[in-house]
Amino acid sequence: MPFPISLLIRHAQIILPNGELAIADVLTSDRTIVEVAPEISTTASTTVIDAHGLTLLPGVIDPQVHFREPGLEHKEDLFTASCACAKGGVTSFLEMPNTRPLTVTQQALDDKLQRASQKCLVNYGFFIGATAEDLPDLLTANPTPGIKIFMGSMHGELLVDQDTALEAIFATGDRLIAVHAEDQARIYQRRKEFADIHDPAVHSQIQDNQAALLATQLALKLSKKYQRRLHILHMSTAEEADLLRQDKPSWVTAEVTPQHLLLNTSAYEKIGTRAQMNPPLRLPHDNEVLWQALRDGVIDFIATDHAPHTLEEKAQEYPKSPSGMPGVETSLPLMLTAAMQQRCTIASVANWMSTAVAKAYGILNKGAIAPGYDADLVLVDLNTYHPVRREDLLTKCGWSPFEGWNLTGWPVVTIVGGQIVYNKGQLYTEVRGQALKFTQSSS
Ligand code: DOR
Repeated sequence: MPFPISLLIRHAQIILPNGELAIADVLTSDRTIVEVAPEISTTASTTVIDAHGLTLLPGVIDPQVHFREPGLEHKEDLFTASCACAKGGVTSFLEMPNTRPLTVTQQALDDKLQRASQKCLVNYGFFIGATAEDLPDLLTANPTPGIKIFMGSMHGELLVDQDTALEAIFATGDRLIAVHAEDQARIYQRRKEFADIHDPAVHSQIQDNQAALLATQLALKLSKKYQRRLHILHMSTAEEADLLRQDKPSWVTAEVTPQHLLLNTSAYEKIGTRAQMNPPLRLPHDNEVLWQALRDGVIDFIATDHAPHTLEEKAQEYPKSPSGMPGVETSLPLMLTAAMQQRCTIASVANWMSTAVAKAYGILNKGAIAPGYDADLVLVDLNTYHPVRREDLLTKCGWSPFEGWNLTGWPVVTIVGGQIVYNKGQLYTEVRGQALKFTQSSS
């Protein structure tokens, strides 16, 4: 069952490349979609999936995750994380360099690629991390979607918070730079001011909207000065969305997380430090402005920033509690539930969670249901609702900020490279993804 060479997905509602919905059959052969048509006849060797009443989407490409391997495997590892991806309809991911050792050399990148080839049920790519020190592999490391800069919210070598070091990175080479934009000087100063407060809600005041805006303004300024391809990770504030609405060069893209769209500072009362992340949750007004920016194309796509920490770690008193929350298992149902509530369309969810990501990172042949595209697909059920339950989660950290939320659009079948990797609650753990290739951002 997990290794068919040909799959026929029959009578699914599909999103056509023009965004329209249609009932169609989709035939895959080996790793590729070969035919999309109203009625396709089977051959004996084809495995048929009856998708009547279900919706077929291009597999989710999650462009910002922290999967903790190597070095922090007590929180998550590439196997557990990729199982969670398969269950969540995420068929490809781009992972961040704050593992141990840091992914700042070709050697560390090769090690991650090697581990992923052995353990990952879905497709994978890894960012190379910038440091203030000029490291030789930053411009040549391959394959990678680009350079990750932590302008704030990081300690140790990965923090690049001095203007001269930042400018040197923007001035050299042409590969994509993805920024975590928070102003570290402002965070340091406000941390001192609020040092006596242990209510986690103060996190959103310390790392406030202004801290995010200052860093985004600086990244934008440098990107314009050097015409450098820039991606703004997890944009969180109304002010940044307004800035980009006024002034967004064609070579700049931005993303938002489901939690910055759907959660706000009221979450601290309900889930305490489990709501703590960087950049922090904001106000309901920010939620609304981010939604509008996403709908208007000011923000290009969705990432989860899946950042698992154990419940024990999260239970420590603020500010000892680490920032971050998991997301790959819930992102698609969260966004599809929003679509069913008329906040957006199903076609835009497919665009924001797959098509636009493939385009921005130059990932060829992914992000559409059309002949010639890779058979990375997810079949979802938009007819039933199920709550997010801790006991159902596959992420090693074992919790979700969305526990109890009643969602629709849960994956029924997930297909990676023409192979069924998840089917109605069952994982096929022998399936392996492939290393992603990037056509635009690698020099
Ligand atoms: O909240 C966060 N946690 N934001 C980040 O950017 C990093 C992440 C982590 O790795 O825990």
